[in-house]
Amino acid sequence: MSENKRMSRRSFVRLCMGTGALVAADPALLAKPREAPTSAQRVTLIGSDGNPLKSGDLEVGESYVFHYPYVSTPCFLIDLGKPAEPGAELETEDGRMYRWRGGVGPDRSVVAFSAICAHKMSYPTRTVSFINYRHDNARYNDLDRNVAEREQVIYCCSEGSVYDPAAGGRVLGGPAPQPLAAIDLDCGGDDVLCAVGTYGGELYERFFEGFGFQLALERGTDDIRAPTTGTARVWSISDYTSNRRTC
Ligand code: FES
Repeated sequence: MSENKRMSRRSFVRLCMGTGALVAADPALLAKPREAPTSAQRVTLIGSDGNPLKSGDLEVGESYVFHYPYVSTPCFLIDLGKPAEPGAELETEDGRMYRWRGGVGPDRSVVAFSAICAHKMSYPTRTVSFINYRHDNARYNDLDRNVAEREQVIYCCSEGSVYDPAAGGRVLGGPAPQPLAAIDLDCGGDDVLCAVGTYGGELYERFFEGFGFQLALERGTDDIRAPTTGTARVWSISDYTSNRRTC
């Protein structure tokens, strides 16, 4: 069955039974930690044809989804169409300071972030995504609760957290307590996009604890903590999810 097609009722039931049996056999399965991916875990991003994705293949204004550093942790890939300069000083919820490394590609316009909202971890699924990149003008409440308006934001409609992808995922509004975790990209002379690490406020353990069972069902595997290795398939958001909610 194509990945883009919905899971049939029969396979869904089979998957539920399989996952249920696994968890019944070992209830700690979904909570078991496994070796964390290293910050140097280099993964080549590939398109639907299986070929390495180049920064020039991305459409400005479109957003894309891939999974990194684990097979079940979604990320956004975006060409902003303008340079995303490095240097923004950012802070995690627990007070760690870090510096945004900027975009990659010929125009430094390509950026990637964890697509797990820093508030209550809303994330894109096959059936719905409440967190989305908005290339066109969006209205939101800023950190002083005033109505603001601007283009190029990552907007989580669950409770209204808004992030600036040109400045390291900095929080522009809403309840998120920290920026989105950043994905370190590399784009060499061949223009091929690779994910090479993550930095900032990573929520992966919390994500597995909160959504482990759901992730196992969605991914069709109990091994949701497997690191992404070798290559990572990239989807346009419209191919990835059937219901892209904007607000
Ligand atoms: S989960 Fe995104 S704003 Fe609450």
